[in-house]
Amino acid sequence: MKLIEAKDYHEMSMLAAEVILDQIKEKNDSVLGLATGGTVLGTYQQLILDHQQNKTAYQHIKTFNLDEYAGLSRQDENSYHAYMKKHFFDEVNIPFSQTFLPNGEALDMKAECENYDQKMEELGGIDLQLLGIGQNGHIGFNEPGSSFESKTHLVALEQSTREANARYFDTIEDVPTHAVTMGIATIMKSKKVLLLASGLQKSSILYDLFHSDVTSSIPATILRDHPNTIIIADQEALSKLHQDERKMFAK
Ligand code: F6R
Repeated sequence: MKLIEAKDYHEMSMLAAEVILDQIKEKNDSVLGLATGGTVLGTYQQLILDHQQNKTAYQHIKTFNLDEYAGLSRQDENSYHAYMKKHFFDEVNIPFSQTFLPNGEALDMKAECENYDQKMEELGGIDLQLLGIGQNGHIGFNEPGSSFESKTHLVALEQSTREANARYFDTIEDVPTHAVTMGIATIMKSKKVLLLASGLQKSSILYDLFHSDVTSSIPATILRDHPNTIIIADQEALSKLHQDERKMFAK
């Protein structure tokens, strides 16, 4: 895991967008793994700005999102389909047919999950996977205790995750109890991983990410075993790590 320290959220977003743009420059038909949530929003804004200014082309890019709430329709404003459309897809020239998210309303969820993993393989696998991190160490919606062998699957969300995400809903009762998520094995197959973290609320989990052994009770620790993981975190998120440690992890 290589650490890149950013001053603040804005700088983190700019640095993350640079990593993604380098990937697109290197391979204009890259398969990108995408995330939703507050952390990655600024990165999408930077990519949109770049698209407007430099005309970076997305017509050959394919995207797979990490996850989607179970039981929400694509049109629901809280669905990750709607998030991606609003915050990214509608603003760059990516054909809609090349953007994939799990269908949270699939009647046969097992088949939906298998098809999702198969589609990824068919398109050559994910070149670069963008990730946020939950305060409990989840990546995607792989909550503590998730198997490292898991592929795309249906999960029950932890109460703490529902509470963290309740800010987008009218009441906590409206937050879905389940989601479909890429599994940890799916994420680990990506050729490169880019994990972002910002803010004091992520400082404890970032400390654990760098100090704990690889353990399924902190799912993100598996990234230590990935050969090509970059972590971009801002000073608040890194505030529990000593300066010397930050230097050491930056190498
Ligand atoms: C979102 C996702 C989640 C978030 C994580 C952090 O697609 O898979 O793992 O990345 O919950 O969310 P924020 O960025 O809102 O703190």
